[in-house]
Amino acid sequence: MTRPAAMAGAARTTAPVVVRSGELSKGGRRHLLSVAELGAEGIEEILEVSDAFVEVGRRSIPKVPSLRGRTVVTLFAEQSTRTRLSFETAAKRLSADVLSFSVDTSSVKKGESLRDTVETVAAMGVDAFVVRHTSAGAPAAVARWVDASVVNAGDGWHEHPTQALLDCYTIRQVLAERSGRPSQGAGTGCFVGLRVAIVGDVRHSRVARSLVLALGALGAEVTLVAPGSLLPPSLEGWPVTKVSYDLDAVLPHVDVCYLLRLQSERGAGAFLPSVREYSAWYGLTSRRAALLGDGALVMHPGPMNRGVEIADDVAALPQSLVLRQVSNGVAVRMAVLFMLLGQVGSGGAAPDLAPTLAPTPGTVPGA
Ligand code: CP
Repeated sequence: MTRPAAMAGAARTTAPVVVRSGELSKGGRRHLLSVAELGAEGIEEILEVSDAFVEVGRRSIPKVPSLRGRTVVTLFAEQSTRTRLSFETAAKRLSADVLSFSVDTSSVKKGESLRDTVETVAAMGVDAFVVRHTSAGAPAAVARWVDASVVNAGDGWHEHPTQALLDCYTIRQVLAERSGRPSQGAGTGCFVGLRVAIVGDVRHSRVARSLVLALGALGAEVTLVAPGSLLPPSLEGWPVTKVSYDLDAVLPHVDVCYLLRLQSERGAGAFLPSVREYSAWYGLTSRRAALLGDGALVMHPGPMNRGVEIADDVAALPQSLVLRQVSNGVAVRMAVLFMLLGQVGSGGAAPDLAPTLAPTPGTVPGA
């Protein structure tokens, strides 16, 4: 991965961008398959690069030519709204060509294997695959089959690394704003001792696994709150401080309450007496939200089951960051794609993060 240490300003400039190798480059990695492979330094580096792309997102034309000539494929074998559109927006804002592949409308439905499919698409000349799949390990398999970079966009119950990165970015951004300091250069010290409750269907959640690994690496104190049936069979390798079955008791003592979606499509309902009972004990209602300390943040990766894990009025509270998480996801995914692909083929030159030239208003290109 590569990173810009400085960004071009809001004006149409060609200010130099200093690039140095990132942690993944040092490790010779071309993929992002798991938060576990990043470590605290790798996470911090991605968050810092994301700052630069948040700035790009605020421009009137939020587009840079950094990945011009690169091709990114979004290969989704499971439903998605946020992740898919976010990656596609990110790649387009980096000026990459984007191919959008849906298993449901592909020759997979005629019996073609995932490997044949991936190798076929790769033969068209692809620089990165962004892969979502119902099976844990599918993105890692794709990484073995092709020369392109692979980004895990969520695989089964395993991991969803960019979700965890955008969540960490959002927490860091809000805490920096509150302290009156810019997010740029804020580091990750804000996570040390930060008390985070991750609530709900941990068992089936790739989001929870990636987030626990990220927060643990950054020094946060993570409490899992769930009925026993919705905890993983083993918490070995999960850097959590404690587990609780009592949400009311935990809420007054956390800085962040992160709610997980009850994953009915993965059979979560079979682990519960009823969804209504689950909601009664573990849903963040407005009564429960009032137990949170001043300034505590409410987060959810989406899609939300309103009235199950989060009440309508809680989702609308000022401290609810759900839509900010989505917004930041574009910048974080720009950072990941840029760091994986930005230097490839550039002969080591600094990537161009100046804005893409736009036609003069009122003119018709090519007319
Ligand atoms: N948070 C998340 O992964 O949402 P989608 O399933 O809509 O991509």
